Amino acid sequence: MSELIRVENIAAHEGEEVTIRGWVYNRTRKGKLVFLLIRDGSGFVQCVAFKPDLDPGLFDQIARLPQESSVIVTGTVRADKRAPGLPGGYEIGITGLEVVQLAAEDYPMSLKEHGVEFALDNRHFWIRMQSQWAILRIRATIISAIREWLDDNGFINMDTPILTPAAAEGTTTLFETPYFDEGVVYLAQTGQLYNEANIYAFGRVYCFGPTFRAEKSKTRRHLTEFWMVEPEIAFCDLDELMEIEEQFVSYIVQKVLEKRRPELEFLGRDIAKLEAITPPFPRISYDEATEILQKIREETDDPQQKELLKFEWGMDFGSPHETALTERFDKPVFVYGYPTEVKAFYMEPWPGRPEVCKSVDLLAPEGYGEIIGGSERISDPDLLLENIHKHNLPPEAFEWYLALRKYGSVPHSGFGLGVERTVTWICGIHHIRETIPFPRTIKRVYP
Ligand code: 4AD
Ligand code: MG
Repeated sequence: MSELIRVENIAAHEGEEVTIRGWVYNRTRKGKLVFLLIRDGSGFVQCVAFKPDLDPGLFDQIARLPQESSVIVTGTVRADKRAPGLPGGYEIGITGLEVVQLAAEDYPMSLKEHGVEFALDNRHFWIRMQSQWAILRIRATIISAIREWLDDNGFINMDTPILTPAAAEGTTTLFETPYFDEGVVYLAQTGQLYNEANIYAFGRVYCFGPTFRAEKSKTRRHLTEFWMVEPEIAFCDLDELMEIEEQFVSYIVQKVLEKRRPELEFLGRDIAKLEAITPPFPRISYDEATEILQKIREETDDPQQKELLKFEWGMDFGSPHETALTERFDKPVFVYGYPTEVKAFYMEPWPGRPEVCKSVDLLAPEGYGEIIGGSERISDPDLLLENIHKHNLPPEAFEWYLALRKYGSVPHSGFGLGVERTVTWICGIHHIRETIPFPRTIKRVYP
């Protein structure tokens, strides 16, 4: 009996007879040779059937196998630099093949180009394709790297509620759902407020789960359901927060380079650009960012770009601004000190400049824009209550949150990193909808 292996480990089996279990991804014929590209979930490998070596009936069956048929293949592993596949560089000379199921001939996701709406309608099949498989493998590695770094650096994982009584990130993006006799509740926009309670028990915590925003913007950066990791740290100011963020993000990128290089290469990612992601990251104030943007706008000859980049102090950055700004950097850049008006109610004012708050966003390079939003939190209960009123939030829903400021209040800070934005950047792809297995956007909750 030959050993059952996973394709991702094939290099360790050169010269051996092995068995793999998977699906026919592609099939081509050249005279006495049939090439099957087989995927087994862990990778893609070329398997070669040579007519003189096989029972004629078996060879004929292999020559007619429909795409996506499930098979168990036995054969000998050979190194061959030209062999296609992922990781590639090896092929299997078929000695035996058992069909588990012959797939129907009308598989919708044949290996030609498909329109994006068609591909999204068929997401349950699209995830089998090499590009999507590579992106989602990278996503999984990013998620493990996130947990690894936090777990190794003294952060305790605390799960926070999904059903919440009030808005935390603005009242315009709430999804609401009836809740028995209690009226309505909202799908969580963030777990942050609960984490601010958790730090007083555990010091450094993080929550990591799905978050929801009824985003009416139809952009390549917005989902209505996305995953966010939110670390929160007691005794931490804005400078310390930035130091934590740059260590954290650099670790994630370097881990992906270590574990998922073939996938990145398949996607055509410029690896050198990722290798450059090491601390420290540049820090610029919102005021400086505003000046840079004005300059970019003055320098451009493109009237459309001039229009898109219209900007004055006090505005929040839109996607075009973030794109233009981050094209100038080869590392993620911190922009700190945003106008208080455009940020959430819980952000600590800048000392001596209340129109600005101690917030910091991390913008990814190459035009990818915001991947992290964070801030120092207000620790004074009176100021916090004032802001709750200013933002028209129901004070009774925040009583417990305000009480945290009465018993051992400390300066504290935290941030939220959006998983899908991060995957989009690290993979170097255009649109966020390919970075989550089943994306939800304003136009789509199917499949
Ligand atoms: O900047 P945001 O809204 O910050 C918060 O929610 C804070 N409570 C986080 C904290 O301090 N604990 O969101 C944080 C990140 C963004 O930088 C972005 O990466 C991602 O979440 N994000 C989205 N990703 C995809 N689609 C959307 N609609 C997103 N909205 C935010
Ligand atoms: Mg933000």
